[in-house]
Amino acid sequence: MSESQLWQKVDDYFTGRLLPDAPDDALAAALRDSDAAGLPPIAVSALQGKLLQLLAQLQGARNILEIGTLGGYSTIWLGRALPADGRLVSLEYDPGHAEVAVRNIARAGLDKQVEVRVGAALESLPRLADENPPPFDVVFIDADKVNNPHYMEWALKLTSTGSLIILDNVVRGGRVADPDNTDPDVLGTRAALDLIGSHPRLSGTAIQTVGAKDYDGFALARVLA
Ligand code: SAH
Ligand code: DHB
Ligand code: MG
Repeated sequence: MSESQLWQKVDDYFTGRLLPDAPDDALAAALRDSDAAGLPPIAVSALQGKLLQLLAQLQGARNILEIGTLGGYSTIWLGRALPADGRLVSLEYDPGHAEVAVRNIARAGLDKQVEVRVGAALESLPRLADENPPPFDVVFIDADKVNNPHYMEWALKLTSTGSLIILDNVVRGGRVADPDNTDPDVLGTRAALDLIGSHPRLSGTAIQTVGAKDYDGFALARVLA
């Protein structure tokens, strides 16, 4: 058995023990319809989605911002952490992805709380800021990695003390730490990590993960006063 197969096996084990009901609900349908529509299979895993949900609950989140919706799978996990009057704004560039996501989110019963905004996030973010929304308690950054430093800057503008910023895909099989790798996505993630490490208003860390998403990881940053 390869390392990757072993990681998948343990993920299957944890999923069976810890999330026995997850495959039966709207989440399974969201993945099925995303696949059927030809969306890439790059959503967070079920265990990772549950982690996002727990983190949002620990934050007592009432307002969540997501950058990179895809088919709305992570959106549903995060949206389920919200109280009835909570709100999640998710930004998606691809109108086809957004269309699939909107259906998946409605089937999950979250259409009152969740709003998908179509367009390049760097255009949607200033518009969102112009609306003076209440500070977002959680920001999940999971779109085009080249723009990660810009997304971190916007996340800082749109949050307040105690907010949590989560950045996906910071490891990418180890490419982040390979000095010979100058892929724009890797450079974007490195710049975002440098920002977390050096910014006076951020306290952060990063965690490496294995499993259904192979070898990758998240960075987490708490917004300070
Ligand atoms: N968060 C999702 C996965 C997101 S995949 C989940 O875990 O379920 C990344 C998404 O970001 C893709 O749907 C892609 O179309 C979108 N994206 C890429 N560039 C973008 C941009 N500039 N602005 C907004 N979304 C973008
Ligand atoms: C890719 C993007 C993601 O957000 C992810 O979680 C996994 C893979 C990708 O573009 O390959
Ligand atoms: Mg991701």
